[in-house]
Amino acid sequence: MGFPEIRPRRLRTTPAMRRLVAETRLAPSDLILPMFVREGASEVVPIASMPGVVQHTMETLRKASVEAVEAGVGGLMIYGIPTSKDATGSGGIDPDGILNRAIREVVSEVGHDTVVMADLCLDEFTSHGHCGVLAADGSVDNDATLALYAEMALAQASAGVHVVAPSGMMDGQVGFVRSALDAAGRTDVSLLAYSAKYASAFFGPFREAVESSLTGDRKAYQQDPANGREAIREVLLDVEEGADMVMVKPALGYLDVIARVSDVVDVPVAAYNVSGEHAMIEAAAANGWIDRERAIHEALTSIKRAGADIVLTYWATELAQTLR
Ligand code: PBG
Repeated sequence: MGFPEIRPRRLRTTPAMRRLVAETRLAPSDLILPMFVREGASEVVPIASMPGVVQHTMETLRKASVEAVEAGVGGLMIYGIPTSKDATGSGGIDPDGILNRAIREVVSEVGHDTVVMADLCLDEFTSHGHCGVLAADGSVDNDATLALYAEMALAQASAGVHVVAPSGMMDGQVGFVRSALDAAGRTDVSLLAYSAKYASAFFGPFREAVESSLTGDRKAYQQDPANGREAIREVLLDVEEGADMVMVKPALGYLDVIARVSDVVDVPVAAYNVSGEHAMIEAAAANGWIDRERAIHEALTSIKRAGADIVLTYWATELAQTLR
């Protein structure tokens, strides 16, 4: 017999063979669509750095929710953009604030058919753009912020949200929010913790999307990109504090972290294909430098291959439609 006897290429010969032996598959139900809604908007506002993504009006938010659900998308994550902000981000807690109103609208539209989630963080609502309230010295006051997250979680729960997603990287936020929900009798509301969230340059376009007021950075609360082991600590703490699901964010530069996390936890692992990752592919594709559809598919497949069960992506609806 001629050399080589072992020929891995046999399993790559035809599309049918490749499909049969694929180890990783993307499914619409694994995808979560993040959506932005702008207070008082009467028409959609395109986000220049995120081609294809818009700030919705309440009406287009409803329509886009229906479209996503019809495509089979597994869940929706809502972000609100208020018209006025203050030092404590009170618009996030106000039952009539943009995010809580949007939750109510989306839940009434598609709440029986999908999982409705909301960002539980103050940064869209604070005049300084930080994820929490500031102490006298200008630092983010961890414990004072927790009390506000608890109020915000209760407001979101009252609006009908299925899952609250604390993303502010305050110590103890998961346990604090869980206790507050439980004490209010809302043991039914789930918690998706942004557990391993890095102080990343790849959130850049998101700042435009939510018209962020932030001038500095979040390095004093979000993780240092240099640290992998620390992500395990953050994730295990969150699980101990009651997180029903955990998240690694961003995704593509942190595939090693996703892999390590999925090895150690017994809860679903989500990963967030963030705004900058989205923008890079769209920009390269717009220049004709890469094949857009293939790049999207490959990027999201890589995130699942690394160990993510759930992927948050701005392409969720489009991808779900092509997967059907
Ligand atoms: C905080 C939050 C951010 C993102 C999601 N939730 C911004 C930040 O932490 O600075 C980024 C998402 C993305 O870049 O796509 N509310």
